Amino acid sequence: MEKIAIKTQGLLICILIFISNVFCMGESDNNISVMENSEKEALYSAIQGFVGNWWNGTELFPDPCGWTPIQGVSCDLFDGLWYVTVLNIGKIQENSLKCTPNAEFRRHLFEFKHLKTLSFISCFNFPHQYPVSIPTDNWDKLAGSLVSLEFRSNPGLIGQIPPSFGGLTNLQSLVLQENGLTGGLPSNLGNLVSLQRIVLAGNKFTGQIPASFGGLTELLILDASRNSLTGTLPLTFGGLTSLLKLDMSNNLLNGMLPNELGNLKNLTLLDLRNNRLSGGLTKSLQEIISLEEMALSNNPIGGNLMTIEWQNLQNLVSLDLSYMSLTGSIPESMTVLRRLRFLGLNHNNLSGNLSPKLAALPSLSALYMNGNNLTGKLEFSEWFYGKMGRRFGAWSNPNLCYPVELMSTGHVPFGVKPCQEGVTLLVANSNIKMSDEDSDQKNSSLVSLGYSINVVDRSWKVILVKEIVIVLLINFIL
Ligand SMILES: *[C@@H]1O[C@H](CO)[C@@H](O)[C@H](O)[C@H]1NC(C)=O
Ligand SMILES: *[C@@H]1O[C@H](CO)[C@@H](O)[C@H](O)[C@H]1NC(C)=O
Ligand SMILES: *[C@@H]1O[C@H](CO)[C@@H](O)[C@H](O)[C@H]1NC(C)=O
Ligand SMILES: *[C@@H]1O[C@H](CO)[C@@H](O)[C@H](O)[C@H]1NC(C)=O
Ligand SMILES: *[C@@H]1O[C@H](CO)[C@@H](O)[C@H](O)[C@H]1NC(C)=O
Ligand SMILES: *[C@@H]1O[C@H](CO)[C@@H](O)[C@H](O)[C@H]1NC(C)=O
Repeated sequence: MEKIAIKTQGLLICILIFISNVFCMGESDNNISVMENSEKEALYSAIQGFVGNWWNGTELFPDPCGWTPIQGVSCDLFDGLWYVTVLNIGKIQENSLKCTPNAEFRRHLFEFKHLKTLSFISCFNFPHQYPVSIPTDNWDKLAGSLVSLEFRSNPGLIGQIPPSFGGLTNLQSLVLQENGLTGGLPSNLGNLVSLQRIVLAGNKFTGQIPASFGGLTELLILDASRNSLTGTLPLTFGGLTSLLKLDMSNNLLNGMLPNELGNLKNLTLLDLRNNRLSGGLTKSLQEIISLEEMALSNNPIGGNLMTIEWQNLQNLVSLDLSYMSLTGSIPESMTVLRRLRFLGLNHNNLSGNLSPKLAALPSLSALYMNGNNLTGKLEFSEWFYGKMGRRFGAWSNPNLCYPVELMSTGHVPFGVKPCQEGVTLLVANSNIKMSDEDSDQKNSSLVSLGYSINVVDRSWKVILVKEIVIVLLINFIL
């Protein structure tokens, strides 16, 4: 749309000049593409720095902002003159100018007077042969206009975030994603009070999250996942009241979940997976009623699920609380989360019975409870097991079983054994007797599958064993 607009404007100027009896093409050509020479030269030289000196812009693109725009460049008119407002370098579209292996930043980059958007995507690709650092100086020259700055998928971009980024006070979006950047996060990034998005994911950042980040009250997205950040989640995060998405997963964060997270009333995503957080589930989590996805798995958080009144979190779609050393039983309040599609409680230390009401959750399509110490009889229907298949995980709960009646249906929970009292029922209808020898054989084959069953009467056991083997076979075939 922007390009069409620019072309239309160019055409208009052309028509106007034509009307005033000047040739449209020809000597007045200069007037169509009125662009200060300094701006034009800066554009060609800056691009040459990234794509290589072989690139002769003037020949291919005599009119970079008008009739023959350069891929990745957009312009706007300011007082009748063209200025570059958007510069996208690197592999953005098929016909984008590709960066040369030894791409470099030239000072010309900082001479654009009205540059709003600057992006580098897959431009610096050779961390060993041609590592490049972000220039530390001159960013102040772009501070008046720059709204969006992005470095994405540049493994060859190394070194630290220049502290001078803290002066880009008009920035609304700062994306430094999947690069080779290292070092700490400058605390003066907290000065960028217009920021709506800050993405630092997939670098090698270390140190603490600056408390100053809590002052970014306009922030909608904060993603610092997949780094090596340490320390605690700052209490100041309670100030990020506009926040929609908070992703700090895959770092080395420790300490407690701050109470202040409860202030984030618009948050839809809270992803803190794979850290070292501890101290139990903070009760204030139940105040984030907007939350759709909560992922806290793989943290030694501990504590009890009962701490939280889950019925408050009616917007939850995905809840991943696996590998958290949780204790206690699974609360009834989870069985009213009508939007829930994914519930992961596997590999904790949960005990008690599983409420059959979970099966009534209308949206549920994956439920993992495996690797706990749940007990008792599973009271789900054949239909439920059929619908869920392997996405119902209840195995590795040694004291859990399902009613034997289900066996004949072929829909039984994977890796769960049938309940013992069911054996009586089954055998009561049967007069088959087996020899002790046969019994021993089956007993050992059963044990080798990892199941141990204690039935008083040995001959009953044999029948049970045969049934189990058949059911297991069916399970493995399906
Ligand atoms: C270009 O436009 C300016 C006014 O904008 C005018 O003074 C000048 O004569 C024009 N030059 C040509 C070559 O038409
Ligand atoms: C680009 O090519 C043209 C014609 O081949 C030549 O006149 C001009 O000097 C070249 N410009 C640069 C910057 O190399
Ligand atoms: C939260 O979202 C609502 C609805 O989108 C919006 O009206 C409100 O301003 C937001 N709150 C904050 C603090 O941004
Ligand atoms: C689980 O609970 C049992 C019994 O309370 C305890 O011995 C065990 O250490 C716990 N395991 C974990 C991983 O917390
Ligand atoms: C599992 O639960 C049973 C019964 O509630 C208990 O006796 C046993 O110690 C528990 N095992 C672990 C490892 O917590
Ligand atoms: C069942 O197998 C176990 C392990 O091989 C063995 O210790 C046990 O005696 C067997 N039980 C019967 C009833 O044969």
